[in-house]
Amino acid sequence: MFGEQKVCFSGVQPSGNLTIGNYLGAIKNFAEFSQHYKTFYCVVDEHAITVRQNPAELRRRTYETLALYMACGLDPEKNTLYVQSMVHEHAELAWLLNCFTMFGELSRMTQFKDKSAKHSDNINAGLFTYPVLMAADILLFQTDVVPVGIDQKQHVELCRDIANRLNQIYPDLFTVPEPIMAKSGKKIMSLAEPTKKMSKSDENTNAVVYILDDKDTIIRKFKRAVTDSEAEIRFSEDKPGVSNLMTIYSCFTGNTYDEIEREFAGKGYGDFKLAVGEATADALAPVQARFAELMADKAGLEAQMKRGAEEASYYARRTLSKIQKKLGFVQIR
Ligand code: TYM
Repeated sequence: MFGEQKVCFSGVQPSGNLTIGNYLGAIKNFAEFSQHYKTFYCVVDEHAITVRQNPAELRRRTYETLALYMACGLDPEKNTLYVQSMVHEHAELAWLLNCFTMFGELSRMTQFKDKSAKHSDNINAGLFTYPVLMAADILLFQTDVVPVGIDQKQHVELCRDIANRLNQIYPDLFTVPEPIMAKSGKKIMSLAEPTKKMSKSDENTNAVVYILDDKDTIIRKFKRAVTDSEAEIRFSEDKPGVSNLMTIYSCFTGNTYDEIEREFAGKGYGDFKLAVGEATADALAPVQARFAELMADKAGLEAQMKRGAEEASYYARRTLSKIQKKLGFVQIR
């Protein structure tokens, strides 16, 4: 909360091509918050370097992620859109919060366990303290709500613990944030292994539908999606493949699971998969068209990066200076 205004913050890593999981679980839901909240949406490039990145690709994806925010309906007049590394307060607050976060807490983070298994040759300290940088992102803006997919819930909960701990020592220092998850899009699963999250870093590109995939590719990927041998379109825990496709269809069409079951009663998986592919491609077409326009105007994106960073810095400086003062750092103006 800043003054009377409630704050919404979220971020996306420019660490790979964004997926329909990122879209349905997060970005698609961002725009509606700008009606009632002061909103900050950040391209979190500092998070991305916890695994090795190709510098040219990271730079390109940073532009692309900002352009995708805008193409997905985030109006820069109504939302502060910016790049994390251009606002140095993120990294500074992260250091301070590191000193209030326990080794044991970070050791319990499931994403750390997964990523350190996957990148066993590079278990760096940044990978371990990543949730502290994420807490800094959120707390820097006195954030009330954080729209995220379910995989980030544990990190937001740790952020709440850190905020509460500091508030006990220094009363009213931070607003304690709530994670907000989309009802049905909070966990989109892989098309190849539907018990696993769809992830932008998956090496099997057929398991993942990217926001920028063309229509033919999208339809082909859904055609190959793993289902089961029943040939019955029904939402059920023991039918993870079909249920995931139903979730995706529901998110893109607005139809409920009951309506989908009725629509496809007596039909085969082939018809259903084609319908999911078409609904997905049709919904993404306007996003892709707008994205292409925005990417053609690099100077426009850079102007937005600059303006967004200035706006974000204004709020970030206020919080950082408040905590520095409470901690006992000398402040001379
Ligand atoms: P990232 O970049 O992995 O993902 C961005 C957002 O997309 C959501 N998401 C999904 N939702 C549903 N189904 C999926 N398969 C799926 N895959 C990803 C994520 O939950 C996320 O909301 N640590 C964060 C970025 C971050 C952040 C923050 C988020 C850094 N600082 C502060 C919120 C607040 C991450 O790696 O997201």
